Amino acid sequence: MITVTILGAGNVASHLYKAFKNAKDVTVKQWYNRTYSDISSYANEVDTIDDLSQLEGADIYIMAVSDDSIASLSRALPFENRLVAHTSGSVSIHDLDKKNQRAVFYPLQTFSKDAELDFNEIPICIEVTEKANLQFMKDLAETMGCKSYKINTEQRQTLHLSAVFINNFTNQLYRIAHEISDAKSINFDILKPLILETARKVQDMSPYMAQTGPAKRNDKKTIKRHLKQLENEEHKAIYELLTASIKKTHGQR
Ligand SMILES: NC(=O)c1ccc[n+]([C@@H]2O[C@H](COP(=O)([O-])OP(=O)(O)OC[C@H]3O[C@@H](n4cnc5c(N)ncnc54)[C@H](OP(=O)(O)O)[C@@H]3O)[C@@H](O)[C@H]2O)c1
Repeated sequence: MITVTILGAGNVASHLYKAFKNAKDVTVKQWYNRTYSDISSYANEVDTIDDLSQLEGADIYIMAVSDDSIASLSRALPFENRLVAHTSGSVSIHDLDKKNQRAVFYPLQTFSKDAELDFNEIPICIEVTEKANLQFMKDLAETMGCKSYKINTEQRQTLHLSAVFINNFTNQLYRIAHEISDAKSINFDILKPLILETARKVQDMSPYMAQTGPAKRNDKKTIKRHLKQLENEEHKAIYELLTASIKKTHGQR
């Protein structure tokens, strides 16, 4: 049985808690958050604490806290030579205080507290400072049914950068599309099958091959009409930038 203590109670920590709780070979030993009210409703099922001095022994301490607080929180841990991991895509493993054995347990997915997720589909990117901990980290990922990948800091930071393009930027484009369609009283539901098909298509072909639309075809009149339709200058600038990028990729002028 693996004992895990979770630090943090945000999007990632909440999902990790549920996943570890459902995993057969894992016990959540304690759940720490500096704001106790976020975890108090779990007090009847796990030892919930808001005081680091109350931390007890566990096989691993997973810090799913904001990127900027990882270094200071790891320094504040009141023990040494135990295994401590963070869950960030961009923070170096060396930001963790070296008084403990260090690891990264980065789940490459987008987590929102209230959105259900199937952990089986989530790749876990693993990094360790002590080789001896690698198998343990892999086993931990496996308890949740996840595939794990041994990845170094530079690769993880590159994956995180790619993930920002794939998820954050695409989602911002959804938001703009939502605003544009809402302004004309069009139900956003009509666009949802397109969102799904766009994501599904790249499972079977490269993003290069999957591209369609006026920029790829170089339909100048349609592009001009779209730019005229756009009332918001920022939306116009984004349209022009992405159109130029698609044209360049597909050899249009
Ligand atoms: N969300 C994602 O999709 C995603 C995906 C993969 C990896 N990650 C990584 O996972 C980590 C957590 O992200 P998240 O989205 O779960 O964040 P989040 O929802 O914003 O939660 C942040 C957590 O950090 C705690 N915290 C912030 N500053 C702190 C400090 N100075 N001392 C102690 N605790 C502090 C917060 O405590 P309070 O409740 O007291 O404010 C909260 O529990 C980050 O490293 C992030 O890069 C996120």
